[in-house]
Amino acid sequence: MSVLNKIPSEKLSIIQPLWLNDQMANLFIKRDDLIHPLISGNKWRKLKLNILHVQQNNLNGILTFGGAYSNHLLATAMAGKLFGIETVGVVRGDELNKESNLILNYCDSLGMKLKFVSRDDYQYKDEPEYKQELLTEYSNFWIVPEGGGNYHGVIGCIDILTETTNDFDYICVAQGTTATSIGILLAAPSTCKLLVCPALKGFDSITEMKRKLNRFGFDIEFIEDKMSQVVVLSTDDLGAYGHATDELKQFSYAFTEKSGVPIDLTYNAKALFKLKEYIELNGLYDKKILYIHTGGFS
Ligand SMILES: Cc1ncc(COP(=O)(O)O)c(C=O)c1O
Repeated sequence: MSVLNKIPSEKLSIIQPLWLNDQMANLFIKRDDLIHPLISGNKWRKLKLNILHVQQNNLNGILTFGGAYSNHLLATAMAGKLFGIETVGVVRGDELNKESNLILNYCDSLGMKLKFVSRDDYQYKDEPEYKQELLTEYSNFWIVPEGGGNYHGVIGCIDILTETTNDFDYICVAQGTTATSIGILLAAPSTCKLLVCPALKGFDSITEMKRKLNRFGFDIEFIEDKMSQVVVLSTDDLGAYGHATDELKQFSYAFTEKSGVPIDLTYNAKALFKLKEYIELNGLYDKKILYIHTGGFS
C-alpha cells in the first residue's frame, strides 16, 4: 500500500475560520494538527517522502536525530510502526535512557531503537564522517536530519498549500529548521506574503532559508525573488526556545478556551501571538489570511 493511503485524505486539508480579534473576518486556520495524533502537522509532511524513499529503494529503515523531548523522534517512531519500517533515534545526551521521559519511553515502545550519544558527539550529526560511522552500525538506513528538514521534507511541505485554494494574501507559520516554511514558500503565488515566526531566540530565518534553498539547487535569482515574499516576526520577547512568558501562557490558554483548538507553547502559541500583533499593527482586517497549525505537544 502506498504511504499516501495510510493517512485518510479528508484529514489533510481541514480549514476552519480562525478567531483572533472581532474585526478579523477573513482569517483561517489549516488544521494539520488533526492529521494524526502523533504524526501531526508538519511532522507528517516532512516524513512522508522520506518514508516513500525508504520503501521505493528497499532501504532498511530511517535513522534520525533529536533531543530528549523531540516531537520529530516520536512522529518518526510512530510512522515506522504504521508503515512497517525500522527506525533508529540518535538522542542528544548519554546520561539519558529510554525511561528518562514519556516521549523516549513511547518511542521505545513503538519499536524505535534509541542510541544515546554525548552532547559533544551529537554536534557532529550533520558531518559526513559521523553519518558514515552510523551507517556502519545501521547499514542501508536512510539518514534524516534533526527535525526532518531535508530536501524530501521540504518538498513534502509543498502540499500544505497546494491542497488549499492557494489565494491568500498572507500565510503565517511557526519556524524551527525552516523546512516547513520553505515548502510553503515554494508553493505560494508571488502575491502572497509569508510570515515566519522562529521559535529559537535570535534565529536568522532569512540566512537559513537562503542557505537551504541554495543547497537544494535553486538559482540565486529565484531565491532572492522568493525570499522577497518573506516577513520575519521575531518571537524573542515571548521567551527562549522551550520557555514561555506569562503573557504568552495567558494568550495560549485564552485562545484554546475561545477556539477549542489546542496549541503548543513552543511553536504555535508564539506564532499565533505574533500573527495577531502583526494584523493589529498593520490593520490587515480586510486581507485573506491563513494560519498553518503545525501540531506539536509541548
Ligand atoms: C509543532 C511544530 N511546529 C513547527 C515546527 C517548525 O517546523 P520546521 O522545523 O519545519 O521549521 C516544528 C519543528 O519541527 C514543530 O514541532
